[in-house]
Amino acid sequence: MVKTMNAYFNGQPSPEEILERVKGFQSWLEIDLDAIGHNLDQVTAKTGNEVIPCVKSNAYGHGVVPVVSYMMTRGVNRVLVAKLHEALQLREAGLDLGIVSIDPLFTPEQFETVVKKNITHTVYQRKAAEALSDAAVKLGKTASVWVKLDTGLGRVGVRWTEAVGLIEYIHGLPNLRIDGVFSTMSEEEALDQLQVKRILAIEEMCAEKGISVGTKSIASSNAIFHKPYTYLDAVRPGLMLLGFYPEEEDKDHGIELKQSLAWKARIEHVKTVEEGESLTYSRRFVAPKRMKVGTVHIGYYDGYPRGLTKKGKVKVGNEVRDVLGTVSVNHFLVDLTDTELDVGDTIEAISREGVNDALGVATEAGIMTYSLANGLHMLTPRIYIMDGKPVAMSKLKVQEE
Ligand SMILES: Cc1ncc(COP(=O)(O)O)c(C=O)c1O
Repeated sequence: MVKTMNAYFNGQPSPEEILERVKGFQSWLEIDLDAIGHNLDQVTAKTGNEVIPCVKSNAYGHGVVPVVSYMMTRGVNRVLVAKLHEALQLREAGLDLGIVSIDPLFTPEQFETVVKKNITHTVYQRKAAEALSDAAVKLGKTASVWVKLDTGLGRVGVRWTEAVGLIEYIHGLPNLRIDGVFSTMSEEEALDQLQVKRILAIEEMCAEKGISVGTKSIASSNAIFHKPYTYLDAVRPGLMLLGFYPEEEDKDHGIELKQSLAWKARIEHVKTVEEGESLTYSRRFVAPKRMKVGTVHIGYYDGYPRGLTKKGKVKVGNEVRDVLGTVSVNHFLVDLTDTELDVGDTIEAISREGVNDALGVATEAGIMTYSLANGLHMLTPRIYIMDGKPVAMSKLKVQEE
């Protein structure tokens, strides 16, 4: 149930205006917010924990501001972002929730920005802790800190053996407050178990020194599906909240995801080709019979994977049709034989269900659903659906100028 619509939704065009605008879109991403709500509920039911959504990469291509605005209406109080600019976009949109940023900072001005904007900064080095403390003292505020622990992945974070020392040091710096410690799983069972034990040991040693580490968190999508012992105080799902299964093996683990995204595109050109005629670069497709062929104005510029050359499947009405020949920068071709479709009609490049759902498309292209989501072009228009109606759309600065 949506509690209250916030400023982001109240400032949107009417459903009629949005539908009018869609008429001019060559392609657009249609994002069903109710599906995201459903996925949030699924994760809450499975874990029983606070859910701190990871909305990195522009909410995995779905649009960080609309997605977080919606999540707030569903009770989300904190999110995690990878880039400071994502955190700033949320603040500029007037969203007053906890934001944990994992972006490394290098200048005093950047540290001041996170303090001014009440962004929880991730720290795992003394120098960064000192810079954050200096900024907080200068501004007369208390800065919130999450400490990143490297418990075995070996990517970023304070090494587990040195964590207590660093936490004690941060605790002693002026104007800092430790609100959480977090880590990332290695996704290797024996090491994962050890990683969780290391977090608990760090918490215990800190408690003996009278220091609270705040929220402890390590689980992202993979662990939420498969490893209940990792849930700790809060879980940090990312991709799964958008309803993309990271892997086929994640299905049937007590979590039924609903894919939020459908990618629609208009047919730009329609023609009939004769048996034996070739289409696209290197004559990659040769018509086995007389065919009706449509050209769709999306390609790998837009994030439609080139790996779908001669392999892609799209939905044309209720039917699944083949991508013919090469996926190029801005175009691909589709078999429209025996359909009535014409220029301006739409096909679905990615559907919410069926062979061309996100996992199907990614698998066919030989990539992960993470790459598919990250490849969705920033400037493709996005429209947001609730209760079956369009309630918001992305700002199309480039098209509007
Ligand atoms: C720190 C952190 N937490 C959570 C996540 C969410 O991961 P996933 O999308 O696999 O759920 C990520 C993703 O890379 C991350 O970097």
